[in-house]
Amino acid sequence: MLENIPMSIMSADAIGKTQPASAVDAVIRAEELHKYYEMGETRVHALRGVSLMISRGEFVAVMGASGSGKSTFMNILGCLDRPNSGRYLLEGMDVAQHDKKQLASIRNQKIGFVFQGFNLLARTTALENIELPTLYTKIAQADRRKRAVEALALVGLADRGEHFPSQMSGGQQQRVAIARALVNRPSILLADEPTGNLDTRTSVEIMEIFQDLNDRGLTIVLVTHEQDVAQFAKRVLVFRDGKIRKDDFVVNRPSATKVLKTLPTLED
Ligand SMILES: Nc1ncnc2c1ncn2[C@@H]1O[C@H](COP(=O)(O)OP(=O)(O)O)[C@@H](O)[C@H]1O
Ligand SMILES: [Mg+2]
Repeated sequence: MLENIPMSIMSADAIGKTQPASAVDAVIRAEELHKYYEMGETRVHALRGVSLMISRGEFVAVMGASGSGKSTFMNILGCLDRPNSGRYLLEGMDVAQHDKKQLASIRNQKIGFVFQGFNLLARTTALENIELPTLYTKIAQADRRKRAVEALALVGLADRGEHFPSQMSGGQQQRVAIARALVNRPSILLADEPTGNLDTRTSVEIMEIFQDLNDRGLTIVLVTHEQDVAQFAKRVLVFRDGKIRKDDFVVNRPSATKVLKTLPTLED
């Protein structure tokens, strides 16, 4: 993808440690996270001491080979799983002190998820799909549709609300999935390989939406295999063997909007 774009990720050391994280506005604070999976006789040590802080308004890309622990890490950030040891604070709140039911509620309110497969309900319109997460909140019935309409507009699909997933392209379906992730106004958006099923141009269109949402203040953590996708973030972590091996700020990161102008448009 996008071979012509110069690589612009530099070491934080080289640019003087401008780490913005302060404990006060840390959305995510992980301390020495360890995670094991028991597989019969063998034990897989998926995370081997992961510590980091992510502040409000950051846009972090997580890279690393398959099996390096990226999804395990994201599942813990998203309160879908718990570490075996270490501490995870989400907006200053120690996640370990909440039971399953509380965690589900925290997850629904504070975290938006986007996955590689769009996971939309097939016989359900775009707006109905987006509205779903509001059903488990106290948001008034009358406000639910309004929220869904707003979220759809944020991803540039205001005119597609009544369409079914089968009537939309992959990129459009992923936008609907992003709108669904935003509808409860989460503190953080977690995306695990959101462009993994998309072509180059469509991937950059998705990154344009992420950059736009981040400019509006949303904190984003995104897993990707592709350096060309990662460079649209502000900070890049590289996992290897369950540890963070690199944590760098992106220098001269490109604007996805500008990059799109250099890419040929697809024929309809
Ligand atoms: N549910 C699971 N049960 C057993 N092993 C797992 C499970 N999930 C992940 N693993 C193992 O943990 C390690 C990290 O996996 P994962 O976090 O999925 O890596 P990545 O997302 O970087 O590909 C791998 O060795 C993987 O096989
Ligand atoms: Mg994974």
